[in-house]
Amino acid sequence: MHHYRIYRTNKNLEAFFPHFINAIHYLSDDVANAYITGGELILDIALLRSLNDYVADEMSEQAMRLINRDESRHIAIDYHMVDYYTSPAYEERLKARPPRSMQDQAAAWRTFVHMLYHAQPFFRDVFFVPMDRMDPTGKRLREAFKRMQLLGMKQTVMKRPFARFMRTLSDLFNHPVTGSLFGNAIARVGGVEPRFMARLYSDADLGRARAMTYDELADEALAVKLGTMPVSSSG
Ligand SMILES: [Fe+2]
Repeated sequence: MHHYRIYRTNKNLEAFFPHFINAIHYLSDDVANAYITGGELILDIALLRSLNDYVADEMSEQAMRLINRDESRHIAIDYHMVDYYTSPAYEERLKARPPRSMQDQAAAWRTFVHMLYHAQPFFRDVFFVPMDRMDPTGKRLREAFKRMQLLGMKQTVMKRPFARFMRTLSDLFNHPVTGSLFGNAIARVGGVEPRFMARLYSDADLGRARAMTYDELADEALAVKLGTMPVSSSG
């Protein structure tokens, strides 16, 4: 008797998806890019890597080699787009756009709230629950979130509204008073579990990341994923 089960798309992923499509339509492009970059970091550094180690099987190894070849390009492009979406050229493009109608602005806010609301159960089912099983120490997920946090702290990224919003959540979370009172609620809004809202990088990490180009940061994320650079042992 086999133990195969029919693959069904996760319900929370299905619920999140239409709001994400709306986000691409109504929100500025850098918001979608932030989610995609974050998702790819989790996928690459944590999920795919741990999945492969967990099943330890020759066929999965081969498939993963091919997937990784594509994924490496994705990470490189994601970081490149972060660079673009924080550039003066993109700022100019935004300014040149005609002002949006009240309806569109209302739709944008609705979309944003829906997306945040549905992101959390989707992230939980698709990323966090499987990862807890495959990597109970959480080392790889922490590394992926550390990379996201560092990207969000690049000076040019910090100017974008979405990054500012996420950083406000993180400041509130890491503040001794608001954090202890509303920590779980703040993490719920941010879409992630409280353990990943905590600051995961050191001052030295931050100084280094700020001095690096986006290409160099992408290369480093890839090196961590491929195992040519160790996952940091902090946390
Ligand atoms: Fe990808």
